[in-house]
Amino acid sequence: MDDKLLEKLADEYGTPLYVYDGELIQNRFHRFQSAFSELDAKVCYAYKANSSLAICALLRELGAGADCVSIGEVLTALKVGVNPRDVIYTSNSKTDEELSVALAAGVNITHDNLDELEVMAGIARKKKKQARVSFRVNPDINPRTHPKISTGLKESKFGLHFEKDLAFNAYKKACKMDYIRVAGLHCHIGSQILDAGPFVEAAKKMMAFAFRLKKELGTTLDYIDFGGGLGIPYKKDKKLEPKELAKAIVPEIKKGLRNLGYQPAIVFEPGRYIVGEAGVLLTRVNSVKKTPYKKFVNVDAGFNTLLRPAMYEAYHEVKVVGKKDQQETYDIAGNICESGDILAKNRKLPKIRKGDLIAIMHAGAYGMSMASTYNSRPLPAEVLMRGKKTDLIRERGIQEDLHWKQKIPEDLA
Ligand SMILES: Cc1ncc(COP(=O)(O)O)c(C=O)c1O
Repeated sequence: MDDKLLEKLADEYGTPLYVYDGELIQNRFHRFQSAFSELDAKVCYAYKANSSLAICALLRELGAGADCVSIGEVLTALKVGVNPRDVIYTSNSKTDEELSVALAAGVNITHDNLDELEVMAGIARKKKKQARVSFRVNPDINPRTHPKISTGLKESKFGLHFEKDLAFNAYKKACKMDYIRVAGLHCHIGSQILDAGPFVEAAKKMMAFAFRLKKELGTTLDYIDFGGGLGIPYKKDKKLEPKELAKAIVPEIKKGLRNLGYQPAIVFEPGRYIVGEAGVLLTRVNSVKKTPYKKFVNVDAGFNTLLRPAMYEAYHEVKVVGKKDQQETYDIAGNICESGDILAKNRKLPKIRKGDLIAIMHAGAYGMSMASTYNSRPLPAEVLMRGKKTDLIRERGIQEDLHWKQKIPEDLA
């Protein structure tokens, strides 16, 4: 994104501000989709990466389905016009009420345990409406990424294990239930994965399991969903292009499909890959402080705005807008009252002064969607650029938002 434009947007809308490049989102969506065109794969964008309405609407316009991890995300997908058939609702913990809403909406429901399946069957029977269900399986694969985003390890809370036939028995049970249509098979092994190996392992296990379901239970699935997880080059060193990923896993999937003898749809749920590189977080420098040990740049964003560095020790490239040359080493310090609130450590950057504008790159995924009002700071604003057109897609939060729905008991007022 052009420095002059970033300055202009920061002046117009204030900071902290998320700016998204809609054309890059489009490019990444098409790149992913075309890499898997041989399988005619359905791309269900993972809303958790960025569930801002305009971003979801842009992806719906491009033809994306929706991978949703809460009923809130399901309702967002429906609001932006995604066909319920293209919505996959996956959560390890759903309330009975949420299951009812999902059934009424007609979306695909991924179960992660048998208690939930029983509840779902009960509701479906009562409503006389068929539920389209799948199970998330735990393929016991190390995705070689950050532990907090490794989801398919055998110790993980997610999925039904192949071990001890837990996953198989779930399908066996579901197949016999009234008002339950066993529609899919799902896995998601983790996030920010830059190595095709774990995806290949998962594909092999999934296809073998689908084969077993067909052979032993006669189950033909409507879809097999391989989840998301493709990483992006935050550090500009390592990357895995969808084409390379496809080259590694498509032959495995095709081999599996030939064995199956029928044609389920193939689904992927990329989130980060689609929106991660397209987002920049703009933040203004409040002050610069030298200690005997470090130089801190205090900015007007913090881990309430971008949680990834504090939560995952994540690296984001940092630029000083309108300045070049690397002269000094700084830590970019957030404005949250926690010593862990450092957005970037030991970065060689141009000399920074109060009032400079800092751009934190590749902040489109798990940025705004993880933002909070911690320390009583309202949420940032968001802008979507498409060519020369820029639209404010979320107004900056205000103080009143922080008090919304709160009540002071009469005797304390
Ligand atoms: C079930 C599920 N699907 C898809 C995704 C998207 O992952 P990513 O953004 O790494 O592509 C996630 C994220 O963790 C997830 O939990």
